[in-house]
Amino acid sequence: MLCGRTWRADETMYTCPVCGVKGILDVVYDYELIGRRLTKESLARNPERSMWRYVDLLPIADKKLIPPLQVAWTPLYHATRLGERLGLTRLYIKDDGRNPTASFKDRASAVGVVKARELGLKTITCASTGNAASSLAGLAASVDLTAAIFVPKRAPAAKVAQLLIFGAQVLMIDGNYDQAFDLCLQAAAEYGWYSRSTAINPYMSEGKKTASLEICEQLQWQAPDRMFVSVGDGCIIGGLWKGLKDLYALGLIDRYPQLVGVQAEGAAPLVKAWSTGSEDIPPMIPETIADSISVGIPRDGIKALRAVRESKGLYVAVSDAEILEAMRVLGRDGAVFAEPAGATGFAGLLKLVRQGQIRPDERVVVLVTGNGLKDAETAIKAAGEAHGIEPSMRAVKEIVSSWKARGGAH
Ligand SMILES: Cc1ncc(COP(=O)(O)O)c(C=O)c1O
Ligand SMILES: [Zn+2]
Repeated sequence: MLCGRTWRADETMYTCPVCGVKGILDVVYDYELIGRRLTKESLARNPERSMWRYVDLLPIADKKLIPPLQVAWTPLYHATRLGERLGLTRLYIKDDGRNPTASFKDRASAVGVVKARELGLKTITCASTGNAASSLAGLAASVDLTAAIFVPKRAPAAKVAQLLIFGAQVLMIDGNYDQAFDLCLQAAAEYGWYSRSTAINPYMSEGKKTASLEICEQLQWQAPDRMFVSVGDGCIIGGLWKGLKDLYALGLIDRYPQLVGVQAEGAAPLVKAWSTGSEDIPPMIPETIADSISVGIPRDGIKALRAVRESKGLYVAVSDAEILEAMRVLGRDGAVFAEPAGATGFAGLLKLVRQGQIRPDERVVVLVTGNGLKDAETAIKAAGEAHGIEPSMRAVKEIVSSWKARGGAH
């Protein structure tokens, strides 16, 4: 991607041999050949309800190595009530919290597990703010792999619980994600483990791109006008763009959506780089309630900036208060429970709607990247505490009458 060279799959495991760790590779396909097999009609006949319905467009040589969990083909809801509230008639929510380990990251981990098995490796590793790790742990548990996981000590308890329940070997780093990332790289080199870490492994974006394939198919091949997604390292947004480019190359869509990357104000190096128009990404010490995107050094930053530039989209930052509000609105009017980073894309939409930047009839897709149960503590911060009452009808009546006063009960 930096030097423009092309390599065969057996010439490197991860990054460009010339450019080193910054030379993240892009997987290139023979679209002529794939286009003969993968068509709108062939997909319409395909009964597979998972990411593997697009296996012809994935870097998978042996289908027998595909893990047995049902990953992806998550619902795309036409969110009419939520849309009404925002004045949008064509608002869609893609709920990727519905994946087996409850986050978008399952799409990538599934591919990682196949690649480790192709190489005959027994241990797969990653550094993660939490979701890539719990996802990898779950997918590894579904096959014959050990997951060695590096997480920062601030990862929410539910994500750590997932790791332990799935039997992963967990190293909880007394430091932040950026430090966990570097340590994981060193350990993978030292022990010969297969590395799933974002922005090292070229196949992760291939898994992530399947969300774009699904969205366009679920919209009967009418590409959305805009897609909103939260951004930490930038691998998801880069993957979404790759999926759109694949679809365009195959003639399955005839125009591109604009990608809107949304970061938390306290961890917004890409928003900063975007505002200066440069590819120099200033590192920062991240601080946000949205742990999954609490990233100060975006490992896939260059791809993430290019995805937004090429799609003629934009980057936007939202405050933690705006993220908490987005969690509330998304739950109450959209019936989707998102973790903070899962609701951050929606927070970006709320912001642009308020600024009058979205036309009422735009076809808008918001990706929800992680389920709210991943971080119950923050959900309670967003939604407030429940009423505690003594066990008497009198106390019930007191509370219900206060609902009536607010028009909440019938
Ligand atoms: C729920 C959720 N949303 C968004 C992201 C951001 O993805 P990326 O780091 O690829 O930008 C992550 C990554 O951990 C995540 O877990
Ligand atoms: Zn290179």
